[in-house]
Order: sequence, then C-alpha cells, then structure tokens
Amino acid sequence: MNRLKSLIESAREARENAYAPYSNYPVGAALRGSDGQVFTGTNIENGVNDLSICAERVALFNAISEGVRDFERLAVVCEGDYCKPCGACRQTLIEHAPNLEIIMANPEGNYKIVELKDLLPETFKLEG
Ligand code: THU
Repeated sequence: MNRLKSLIESAREARENAYAPYSNYPVGAALRGSDGQVFTGTNIENGVNDLSICAERVALFNAISEGVRDFERLAVVCEGDYCKPCGACRQTLIEHAPNLEIIMANPEGNYKIVELKDLLPETFKLEG
C-alpha cells in the first residue's frame, strides 16, 4: 500500500473509535508529520454541545502534544462524497501547517486531494 492510501486507511481505522452518539456521524483523521510519524484523531462529542471536538483537531493536538511541529498531509474520512474539514479545523490546522495537503476521503476509498491554503483563502493571522 502506498503512503497516501496508508494514511487514508489510518483515518478510516481511527473513525471506528469515534465517540459520536449524538450526531451518529463518525469522522476519522490521520496526520503525517514530516518525520513520517502518524497521529490519528476521531470526533469526540459531548452532551454539552459546545464541548464536542472534530477528528482533525484531535489528530493535530495529539501530534503537538507529542512535540511534533512539522506536518506533511492529513487524511480525513467520513460519509459523503469527500470528507470536507469544517471551518474551525481549517483555521486551526493552517496556523500549524500552512502548506498542509488535505486528503478528503470517504469510507468507500474515494478521495480528493486539496491544499489547505486553497480551502482557506485570505486566512486570518494575528499580526502586530
Ligand atoms: N466533524 C468532524 O469531526 N470534522 C469536521 O471537519 C466536521 C464535523 C464532526 C463533528 C461532529 O461530531 C460530527 O462530525 C457532526 O457534525
């Protein structure tokens, strides 16, 4: 299996661990660091709605808390044609990985490759 397919597979497997009892919409993500390490994430919901978190951010926070700072690509898998990261995840990811490649995939194995910067043009950046 090539690196791209294997990252999608990691996201697909991670999705099986999603905690999504309210939406019944599991999402899985896998983020590859430039050093080759892969960090996964799932959405984790909560009965207090605002506390739910998306799979992409869990993967990113997982990596950052392990000291990894350089990222190559992220695969995200959910039902639909392709799994499109929400706006909050785009903004969170671009702060850490402006050149990230996003593999938007579904559980059937269809995918589309996009650049994160193309998903979030005119990005907000805190500048003094
Ligand atoms: N969700 C993600 O995990 N990633 C996204 O980019 C969009 C949405 C989750 C949040 C919630 O648990 C469920 O999908 C339905 O919105």
